[in-house]
Amino acid sequence: DWTPEHFIKSTVAAIREKVGDGHAICALSGGVDSSVAAVLVHRAIGDRLTCVFVDNGVLRKNEFFKVQENLCEKLGLNLVAVDASGRFLSRLAGVTDPETKRKIIGNEFISVFDDEAHRIAQQTGGVDWLVQGTLYPDVIESSSVKGPSQTIKSHHNVGGLPETMKLKLIEPLRDLFKDEVRRIGRDMKMPEDILQRQPFPGPGLAVRILGEITPERVALLQEADDIVVTEIKAAGLYQQIWQSFAVLLPVKSVGVMGDQRTYAYTCAIRAVHSEDGMTADWVPLPYDVLKRISSRIVNEIRGINRVVYDITSKPPGTIEWE
Ligand code: XMP
Repeated sequence: DWTPEHFIKSTVAAIREKVGDGHAICALSGGVDSSVAAVLVHRAIGDRLTCVFVDNGVLRKNEFFKVQENLCEKLGLNLVAVDASGRFLSRLAGVTDPETKRKIIGNEFISVFDDEAHRIAQQTGGVDWLVQGTLYPDVIESSSVKGPSQTIKSHHNVGGLPETMKLKLIEPLRDLFKDEVRRIGRDMKMPEDILQRQPFPGPGLAVRILGEITPERVALLQEADDIVVTEIKAAGLYQQIWQSFAVLLPVKSVGVMGDQRTYAYTCAIRAVHSEDGMTADWVPLPYDVLKRISSRIVNEIRGINRVVYDITSKPPGTIEWE
């Protein structure tokens, strides 16, 4: 009979045995999978696991600090937080093509992580293991024949790194589904806001800012996203929805504020139900929730004066706009 307690006990013992007195590193995203994987390995080998969390400049509002608080202070992980936002944003300046944005972020991430891995290896006398939060569906997906949907966007996950160091993999969640991972996390007393978090793409807000990514646009979308998440949570809908978020469009329109004319950006709201992200249905959010989100965004955020609602399912739309 599968139980979280039994899984945790046997997995921790197996990792301890496998790693011996070696060192491991782990790239954290702040999401469920990498966090649960890290906590399991931390239970097995303690501070011989070093976790790396990278600010790529397109994280959500306050996320760089929230993740550090959750993982470092609450869970006691040995965490290196790297603020590489300047580096990412300067590489992204002037780039508007969606695939190019993804490639830049993917490559930059590998390069930052690789630098950190080498630094950690010098401090610890060598790193032998790389921890990854790969789940069973990821294993299946990458071993099956790739359908056309996989080539639509080059997905970036914290995976396959860093090649130059020839690290051996620890993938403690390889046989599990998401709901089992959540149960394990709960059993290990991990914060609910990590366990219940909606999926968030590796390239972050970059795939939700259409056109050029500038620090100003990132700041606008961070505020809009924060309002969407806050209001969806306040309405008790956050956990029933696969993803709910804001998208910043590089389209300016005329509006009026008091007796002033405004000319500012448009924000799209997207909310979808999905089982696995492969297909999705748009969610008919209650009008009063939409109304609160819209009026808060246009009243609180200088720079956005219009809000529209995305009523496209997948297919033919994708979940993210880029
Ligand atoms: P799309 O937009 O292709 O997204 O319908 C399907 C699901 O995948 C997420 N997504 C990503 N996740 N790295 C990730 O880790 C990525 O590059 C990436 N792109 C999209 C998206 O948020 C949705 O849940």
